Amino acid sequence: MLGKKVINLKQYFLVGLFVSAFFLALNTTTAYAEEQPIAFSHKLHTVQNGIACQYCHLYARRSFSSGVPPVSTCIGCHGPKEQKLVQPDSKEVNKMRTFWSDKEPIPWVKIHDVPDFVRFPHKEHINADSNRLLDDAGAGCDTKNAPRSLECKLAQFRTGGDQRCLACHGDVRQMEVITQVDENFGKMGWCMECHLQVKGAKERKRTGSTIAGWYHAKEMDKKREAAIGLVNEKGYHNPNMLDCYTCHY
Ligand code: HEC
Ligand code: HEC
Ligand code: HEC
Ligand code: HEC
Ligand code: HEC
Repeated sequence: MLGKKVINLKQYFLVGLFVSAFFLALNTTTAYAEEQPIAFSHKLHTVQNGIACQYCHLYARRSFSSGVPPVSTCIGCHGPKEQKLVQPDSKEVNKMRTFWSDKEPIPWVKIHDVPDFVRFPHKEHINADSNRLLDDAGAGCDTKNAPRSLECKLAQFRTGGDQRCLACHGDVRQMEVITQVDENFGKMGWCMECHLQVKGAKERKRTGSTIAGWYHAKEMDKKREAAIGLVNEKGYHNPNMLDCYTCHY
């Protein structure tokens, strides 16, 4: 009996080892990145040199895609071959200058992507009013232990500005190489868990159909809609956050 128990414990230990090895392996595959044509560091540019996200990604608040900056944006600081400015002797910077003189775009590898049948507008997200989220959304964020929890993402989203980018893309300011940090980034559930935090998202459907309700339906709907934040100050309906047509063509 005793001997058997010992073996069992050993087995448990082995299983434990396998389980932790498995999760270690998973951990290294959750964050997704690719080798890029030029060693461009977000950390170096955004933290050390304090360049704002939207200096380079200027379409984020104006259009569907944020886009990556054209080579001319880099040239503005690093200068063309004949007019050398920042880091003129860097091998990596010179790769970029070669693309410029060849009039070629830099073939960056796209990391964050959603399928073509999904409608994702950056514009609406960058310009959304923080007050559209439920009042307690983002409370209880534990930055130290769970920086990618829904609470923390909501807190960052609420702060607005460039912080909002981090809510969805993770702490890009610390990235030498752009990495997708959320394993389920861009999945339907990933979108939905945040959309559910928008005021009125869950309460849209009218419930209760009493006689009085029918009789005063229009008037009561108006009051109810205003109370749960379904209409904006101009009286127009806010988008339905969970409707299939909001995200699918
Ligand atoms: C607003 C100015 C600015 C813009 C725009 C800019 N950079 Fe830089 N970049 C810098 C500065 C400043 C440094 C050097 C920082 C240092 O050495 O501490 C740098 C450093 C670099 C380096 C590292 C050089 C080395 O060998 O250490 C690379 C590579 C680079 N930039 C590429 C690019 C590319 C590609 C773009 C366009 C997408 C770009 N930069 C846009 C200011 C800029
Ligand atoms: C100096 C210009 C510059 C600045 C400033 C900058 N970026 Fe970028 N960004 C780029 C370039 C160039 C790429 C494409 C190369 C790459 O992926 O590293 C890129 C790529 C990205 C991507 C990945 C795109 C993909 O393929 O999925 C994200 C996300 C991103 N940036 C977010 C940010 C955020 C957030 C900030 C501010 C914290 C920021 N960027 C600041 C130039 C910049
Ligand atoms: C609500 C979540 C969310 C926020 C906030 C957000 N992004 Fe994105 N971002 C995405 C998604 C989803 C994609 C993939 C879009 C696609 O493939 O069509 C993406 C793609 C990108 C790309 C790749 C190129 C492109 O446009 O498809 C860049 C660069 C980028 N984002 C930068 C930014 C920057 C900079 C900010 C802040 C100004 C920002 N994002 C804010 C979700 C977000
Ligand atoms: C971190 C929170 C968050 C995430 C993640 C997020 N969204 Fe949103 N989304 C919002 C907010 C907030 C609004 C603006 C709501 C408002 O102002 O009524 C919005 C608005 C939109 C709109 C505009 C609706 C309209 O008709 O004006 C679309 C489309 C959309 N989101 C699609 C997506 C898709 C697709 C994804 C996933 C790839 C996604 N969102 C992920 C928070 C988020
Ligand atoms: C907030 C945005 C959003 C809303 C609302 C939404 N979807 Fe999606 N949906 C997505 C995204 C993003 C994907 C692609 C990623 C994925 O496959 O999970 C997707 C994928 C799908 C797929 C393909 C799944 C697959 O495995 O290929 C189907 C089917 C779908 N959605 C149906 C629906 C239906 C039905 C509704 C309404 C009840 C709906 N969606 C509402 C964002 C949304």
